[in-house]
Amino acid sequence: AENRTFTMIKPDAVADNHIGGITKMIEEGGFRIVAMKKTALSEERAGQFYAVHKERPFYNDLVKYMSKGPIVAMILEKDNAVEDFRTLIGATNPEQAAEGTIRKAYAKSIESNAVHGSDSDENAQIEGDFFFAADERF
Ligand code: CMP
Repeated sequence: AENRTFTMIKPDAVADNHIGGITKMIEEGGFRIVAMKKTALSEERAGQFYAVHKERPFYNDLVKYMSKGPIVAMILEKDNAVEDFRTLIGATNPEQAAEGTIRKAYAKSIESNAVHGSDSDENAQIEGDFFFAADERF
């Protein structure tokens, strides 16, 4: 659906006890949580999730990083969800992330950047389906 996006709280942000802080920013940003789970990605699953980045120089490090500990996956709902969520999370590189964004508050580096956000409606659908069955969405 075009009013939904997908996010993950990444392993370092989970390890640093920022699930609550990040979820609070998401809800206060006007997003409704449709689905949510704490889980972990094996290297194989992380590689599948980030297959679009396979040719990038950072791919192997990204796969290792995303599989080093548990993550929190969510489907979020709001008008204009994909674009508005990318505004809320801020730039990929936290040095360029605006004040008030999730990455400004919680990201440590361009790789350990606290959260993922889908970049299109099509990928939001694919990424949500990667983690959640129909009966896990409310
Ligand atoms: P995300 O929005 O989840 O999508 C791809 C991820 O790759 C990105 O967040 C970062 O964690 C990582 N990434 C993107 N660009 C770089 C880069 N130049 N160097 C290292 N990691 C990167």
